[in-house]
Order: sequence, then C-alpha cells, then structure tokens
Amino acid sequence: MHATAGQSLDFARIPHPSPVPAAERNTLIAAPGFGTVFTDHMVMIEYDADRGWHSATLGPRGPLSLDPACAVLHYAQEIFEGMKAYKLADGTMALFRPEQNARRFNDSADRLAMPNLPEKVFVEAVRRLVLADKDWFPMVEGGSIYLRPFMFASEAFLGVRPAKQYKFLVIASPSGNYFKSGAPAVSIWVSENYTRAAPGGTGAAKCGGNYAASLVPHANAVARGFDQVCFLDAAEHKWIEELGGMNLFFAFEDGTLLTPQLTGTILPGITRDSIIKLAREEGLTVKEGRYSFDQWRADAESGHLLETFACGTAAVVTPVGRVAGAAGEFTIGGGGPGQLTERIREKLVGIQRGTIKDRHGWVHRID
Ligand code: PLP
Ligand code: COI
Repeated sequence: MHATAGQSLDFARIPHPSPVPAAERNTLIAAPGFGTVFTDHMVMIEYDADRGWHSATLGPRGPLSLDPACAVLHYAQEIFEGMKAYKLADGTMALFRPEQNARRFNDSADRLAMPNLPEKVFVEAVRRLVLADKDWFPMVEGGSIYLRPFMFASEAFLGVRPAKQYKFLVIASPSGNYFKSGAPAVSIWVSENYTRAAPGGTGAAKCGGNYAASLVPHANAVARGFDQVCFLDAAEHKWIEELGGMNLFFAFEDGTLLTPQLTGTILPGITRDSIIKLAREEGLTVKEGRYSFDQWRADAESGHLLETFACGTAAVVTPVGRVAGAAGEFTIGGGGPGQLTERIREKLVGIQRGTIKDRHGWVHRID
C-alpha cells in the first residue's frame, strides 16, 4: 500500500559554504547538454525500519560516504525518477505532473521491496531543491532543470533480504537536448537477441538494474551507427516494447495512433500517458496494443505507417527516421519529423512551458 497520508517532514537547511560563482555557472548553463552539469544543492532524507523517514536536509551537493557492504552495491536495491522543472513564459517555475512521478516512485519501491515515501514529501523535496537552485535554469531553447530523485538501500549487510535502511536523494541537472547530434530524427536498432525485461520481472519499475541490463544492447546499437536500441518482448522476440529510456508511438495513414500496451514489462511513461490523453482530445483514435517488428517493417514499406516517435521526459517527443534489425533497414515516412509528431510535440511542450492553456491541472507552479 502506498503511504499517501499527508505526512510531512521538516527540512533542515544546511548553508552552502561555496556555491559555484555566477560567472562559472553562466558558462556551465550556456550549453548544458544532458546530465553532466549539476547544481549547487541536493536533498537527502534517511529511512530506517524503526524510525521511518527522518533527517531531511537541503544542503550542498557533494559525495556520499558509504560502507563497502552497503546493500545497494551488492544487490542493486535502487529506484529513481526523472522529471523536469520548467521556467514558464511568465517567468514562474513549474513541474509537470509531479504527483505522477511520486506515485510511480512508490510503485517502483513496492516492486523492489523498499519503503514508500509519502507523495507530499517527494514533491516537497523536489520543489525545495528547484527553489534553492533557481539560478541554474539554462537560458537555451528547450532548456530545463532535469531532476533525479532516487532511493537506495544503505544498510551494511550481506544477507539477501530487503534492507532496513535507505537514503532518498534528489539531485538536479540543468539540461538542454537529450540527443547530441541535433539530427531531425533518431535512428533505432532493434535488438532481436537481448531483452530488457521479462514477464514477472522489473520492467515496469524504474530501477537501476533495468538500465544496467540495457547497456550492452545499447552499445551494440551505437557501434552499428544507430542512436538507440529498441527492445522486443522476452517470450517471442516479436513484439515491440520500448527503447532503453523512451516509449514508442506509431501513427498510421487512417489517422490512428498505436502504442505498446502496459503489460508489466515496459515503463508506464508519464509522457506516454499525457500524449494518449492529448491525442484522444483531438479526436484521434489511440490504441494500446501489440505491434510486431515484422508488421512495423511491412507497414513502413507499404506506406500504411506514416510516422513513429519516441517520447519521455528526457527525450520529450523525438521522431524516429531509420530502423534496422538483422534483416536490414527501413525508413519511416520521409525519414524526418512527421506532421503529427510535430503537432503533438508542440502541444505537449506548449502546456509544459505555459504557452498553451493547461486544461488538466498538469502544470504545478512552485513559487
Ligand atoms: N521508458 C523508459 C525505460 C524510461 O526510462 C523512460 C524515462 O523515464 C520512459 C520510458 C519515459 O517515461 P516518462 O515519460 O515518464 O519520462
Ligand atoms: C527520463 O527520461 O527521465 C529517463 O529517466 C530516461 C533516461 C534515459 C535519461
């Protein structure tokens, strides 16, 4: 059961002795890329089985000191979230559907036998960090502060059982585009031998282990000249699942959209959910179902499939241009961004950035 009760914690503020000087910060946020620049602060909250959550701090970001027997280092009991803070057109700072990240975090915690963090505490931790680091918003097109809440087993114990001590942290990283190339569309290698997640496994949880298992197939895709790897289902090696860090959508000439259904082996993306809702409101038929790799190729070649796009917090909405597997390569549409992909991207980004009216209560202002 999720601990959704309105539990709150007092956050102790630890002053930063030496924040990054403004001139250096401005250089760092001028072209931040993704995931390499970090802000001055972090949140940390401790858990132990006897006391529950305690000792919440907002303080200087810095290294952690861990016992070498710390359970996460041995059995990978770790989960995380990915979300962004945006500067709206009117200058206010905002999060996008943060309660959904809080809820998914607790779903992941349940699967990894970890304690739930009250949703209010999760959102408050993220909010406080953004306020403390508000000078770190990159003033570049598409810029945001990417937030990485995570939790790991910190107990020093080598037996295999759920740990009794955990740490929850939030760190922040000013970010621009996830894809370095700036290419109009990404290319995908479909892995027909490696799988990411099996039925009954942890595919629907956002745990570090899923990403560790995706690194070899991802590296193989990159070595072949592709940007991303696409995984097939583990049982038949036939049905499209998702990319290493993004969900997929397919757009057909009859105006329908299709995205792989949530079977427990793929991550229930918050971007995916938002796009389904926005597309249905536009009157499009959106199906959640199975789509085979063979059918994808056949539909792209016949022209029945017009567009494919990947979506996620980091990747936003990214068109897929080129796809390949062992049987050779095919191109989607004209190989660049399609009309529907562009329209959906503009609508989503417009809501996230406050230039399109938020009719859903998705934009959570934080100051
Ligand atoms: N699938 C995987 C494996 C991911 O890591 C992500 C990114 O978080 C997504 C899908 C997209 O999820 P969201 O839209 O919630 O960012
Ligand atoms: C995100 O989009 O937030 C993710 O966690 C994906 C990761 C590949 C950066």
